[in-house]
Amino acid sequence: MNILILGSGGREHALAWKLAQSKKVDKIFIGPGNAGTSSAGTNLKLDPGNFPEVKIAVLENKIDIVIVGPEAPLVDGIHDYFLSDNSLKNIPVIGPDKSAARMEGSKDFAKEFLIRHNIPTAAYKSFDKSSLKGVSAFLKTLSPPYVIKADGLAAGKGVLIIDNINEAEKEVKAILNGKFGAAGQKVVIEQFLKGIELSVFVITDGISYKMLPEAKDYKRIGVGDTGLNTGGMGAVSPVPFADSCFMKKVMDRVVEPTMKGLITDKIEYKGFLFFGLINVNGDPFVIEYNARLGDPESEVIIPRIKSDFFDLIEGVAKGDLAERELEIDERFVTTVMLASGGYPGDYEKGKPITGFEGIKDSVVFHAGTKSIDGKVVTSGGRVMAVSSWGQTKKEALSISYRNAGLINFEGLYLRTDIGFDL
Ligand code: AMP
Ligand code: GLY
Repeated sequence: MNILILGSGGREHALAWKLAQSKKVDKIFIGPGNAGTSSAGTNLKLDPGNFPEVKIAVLENKIDIVIVGPEAPLVDGIHDYFLSDNSLKNIPVIGPDKSAARMEGSKDFAKEFLIRHNIPTAAYKSFDKSSLKGVSAFLKTLSPPYVIKADGLAAGKGVLIIDNINEAEKEVKAILNGKFGAAGQKVVIEQFLKGIELSVFVITDGISYKMLPEAKDYKRIGVGDTGLNTGGMGAVSPVPFADSCFMKKVMDRVVEPTMKGLITDKIEYKGFLFFGLINVNGDPFVIEYNARLGDPESEVIIPRIKSDFFDLIEGVAKGDLAERELEIDERFVTTVMLASGGYPGDYEKGKPITGFEGIKDSVVFHAGTKSIDGKVVTSGGRVMAVSSWGQTKKEALSISYRNAGLINFEGLYLRTDIGFDL
């Protein structure tokens, strides 16, 4: 089997690393990948958003299965593109089609789904330019802070949390007037939920599903969850507060009704579904759905999968996931993200990276790296994730931090408090 993984981050490196361990996999290609993915397979120069370019790569390299890492190609319909092309239609795409990817691609669609299926989520109302007049009255029914979301994909920047009601109203207008482009044709205004977040994942073939390990991500740039939001600065799995009692609520109130709801609504969902949850006084609420795996969550949940990961992928492709094995490692896995100085604001690229090659008891997943003349340099805000196993969270973290300390590049920044709040 030849596999193409689309994407270029730590998630895609983790997928390639794990699939390279499968006896059933012959060749792995990553498009475009990064300096790390080339140790698990062959990087292909392509843009995952350019479907004709993906098609050429798939046919040239005799690809049997395509795994889509990031959300944008899914929301833009890469799965549908394959189904509608005679030379591609028999090549399975792991990731939902355009209609099903609305679970992530439209916050309004996801909210309507949640309400229709009675799944706990924040109270909300959606607005477009024609209903602008109602914004002020709805904001007055909420207490601050106000959560304002552009309906569509806005490169992770489409959620605003604002204390002042006048400011909030102004932002709603700015979004509807194009601040986030087409993503802001609708705006969702939500009640603010206070609690600790949890990322839960399933893999599904549209008929049955399997729970993958859960994880906690650290989204803010600063120690103590302060400062700007990032893609994620570290992660831990398992998550101590997600004990059997809490996870039973997650299953009964969120996962089961979601998976049943997809079937009832005739949304044929194949691939990974990511539940962004918040634990409000012991009760799970859905903040968002994502049509993909998380990053850096992948860098802790994939290393916890003991069984052959390709077997699950094949189960999705063939529609017999229920018959496939999934064995989870009981140990903790933690990851610490090394970022470029200045991220998530402006930062410099092209800084040579040293010290990562000899690391033995962690896996270093590359994110924003590239190889120039045989040297690995930084090429993004999040550069590398150092993932480690431990019998305890503390043990895993101490290994991640020790090995992170061996890596160096100009401006390197990391959060020193991953996992310490749990
Ligand atoms: P999203 O892009 O929907 O994941 O939102 C980004 C971040 O905003 C989430 O990870 C939360 O930290 C926060 N957030 C989103 N919705 C809410 C809400 N209703 N209450 C509190 N925080 C929220
Ligand atoms: N780490 C959060 C995400 O992948 O959206």
